[in-house]
Amino acid sequence: MPKESVTVTDNRTGKTYEVPITDGTIKATDLRQIKVSQDDFGMMTYDPAFMNTAACRSSITFIDGDRSILRYRGYPIEQLAERASFLEVAYLLCEGELPNKQQLSKWEDEIKFHTYVHTNITKFLEGFRYDAHPMGMLLGAVGALSTFYPDAKNIHDPANRYLQRIRLLAKLPTIAAFAFRHSRGLPYEFPRNDLDYIGNFVNMTFSIGGQHQANKVLQRALEILLILHADHEQNCSTSAVRAVGSSHVDPFSAVSAGIAALYGPLHGGANEAVLQMLDEIGDKKDIPGFIETVKGGSDRLMGFGHRVYKSYDPRAKLIKKVAYDVFEQTGLNPKLEIALELERIALEDEYFIKRKLYPNVDFYSGLIYQAMGYPMDYFTVLFAIGRAPGWLAQWEEMLLDKDQKIARPRQIYVGSEERDFVPLEKRGDRRKVERERVSKR
Ligand code: ACO
Repeated sequence: MPKESVTVTDNRTGKTYEVPITDGTIKATDLRQIKVSQDDFGMMTYDPAFMNTAACRSSITFIDGDRSILRYRGYPIEQLAERASFLEVAYLLCEGELPNKQQLSKWEDEIKFHTYVHTNITKFLEGFRYDAHPMGMLLGAVGALSTFYPDAKNIHDPANRYLQRIRLLAKLPTIAAFAFRHSRGLPYEFPRNDLDYIGNFVNMTFSIGGQHQANKVLQRALEILLILHADHEQNCSTSAVRAVGSSHVDPFSAVSAGIAALYGPLHGGANEAVLQMLDEIGDKKDIPGFIETVKGGSDRLMGFGHRVYKSYDPRAKLIKKVAYDVFEQTGLNPKLEIALELERIALEDEYFIKRKLYPNVDFYSGLIYQAMGYPMDYFTVLFAIGRAPGWLAQWEEMLLDKDQKIARPRQIYVGSEERDFVPLEKRGDRRKVERERVSKR
C-alpha cells in the first residue's frame, strides 16, 4: 500500500523530509522542520485569502463546488429547501440532527419566548440617523447585545451557549425589523407570538397600524431563501466569526464580526450590487456593451463567480425557481428579463466559460427581495437572518475543537530594516522619504 505521506527535498540544503498526509492535507506546522540553519524560523506557507488552506475540521456543511453539491449535516440543500422549515434547519445546523416533533416544538417555543428585545435596544436603534444603512444598524445592535447579556461571556458552559443561541436567533429578526422601520420613520411593531418565525418577522416589517395581509406564498419563498443562506462552510463572514470567536469573546460580539464581513459588496452585499448593476444596464439592448466592459476588466458581473463553485451554484438554481413563484404573486419584475438575458449571454461567452463563472446565490435573490417590498439596502440584512444559525453552529464547533487556538496568521515581513527614530524637525517631505525608501528595496 502506498504511504500516506509526501517527501520534500529542500534544494537549499539537500535535506529530505517526510510529511504525513491526513485527509488529503499536510499540516502547515510540519513544514517548520524545514530549515537552512538552527536559528532559521522554519518554512511557512504563503496563502493570502486562504485559497488552499483548511483552517478547521468541520462536520456542518459539505460543498463540492465542481459538482454543484451543497449539504447541511449530510442533507441535500434541495430536500431541505423543499421540505424543512427555517427553524428546523437552524436546529439541524446548531444541534447536529433534525429535531423530532418534541424537540422542534420546544425549540420553536423557546425562540418565541425570546423574541422581545430590551427597551434600551429600541432606544439604541433610535440613535441612528434616519438614513443609516440597516446593516450598520444590525451590526451595532447585535454587538450591543453582549452588554445586555453579560452572562454570554460564560462560553464554556453548554447550557449558557444554548441560551445565547436561542436569544440571537429570536432577537435577530426583531432587530432587523426595527432597523427596517427606523429607516422608514415607522413606529416599531413588536413581536407577535401567535405567528411563526417568518410570519412574525414579515409582520414586524410590513404591518401598518397592526394590520398586515399575510401572503403564505411569499412567506414560504422568504423561508426558502433563508434556508439556502443558512450556512456555507468557511466563507468570509463565517471565518470572521470563527477568528473573532477564537479569542473567546461572547457569541454576540463574534456574530457582529460576521455581520460586518457580510456587509461587504464581495460577500453578502453582492445582491444589492446586482440590482444596482441591472439598473445601470437599464435595457436588454445595452447588455452586450456591459459584457464588454466586464471583459475589459473595468467592471464585474455582480452575482457571478464564486470562490468555491466552479459550476452553477445549487442555491442559484433553487432561487431561480422561487423567483417565478414570487413573480406570480407580485407581477413580473422588469429587471428579471435583463437578468435572464445577461445570464444567457454570459453562460455562452468564452470569458465566463473559461473562468468557470456561473450565477451565484445573489444573482436572483435581490430581484425576489425587491418584489417582496424590501429596499435594496435591506437585502443583506435578510441574508444575515438566514446565516445566523450557520454562524452559531460554526462558532460552537470552533470552541469545542481541541485543535483550535486563537486565530493568528503569520506574515512575511517586507517593511524597513531597523532604523533610528527621526526627530520631527528633521523629517523632510514624507512622500519623498517614502519614494527613496521604496527605490532602495
Ligand atoms: N465578473 C467578471 N469577472 C470575474 C468575476 C465577475 N463576477 N468574478 C471573477 N472574475 C474573473 C476575475 O477577473 C479573474 O479573471 P483573471 O483570471 O483574468 O484575472 C477570474 O475570474 C478569477 O477571479 P477571482 O477574483 O480570482 O476569483 P475569487 O475566487 O477571488 O472571487 C468572487 C470570487 C469574489 C465571488 C468573485 O467572483 C466576484 O467578485 N464576484 C462578484 C461579486 C459576487 O457576486 N459576490 C457574491 C459571492 S457569493 C456570496 O458571498 C454569498
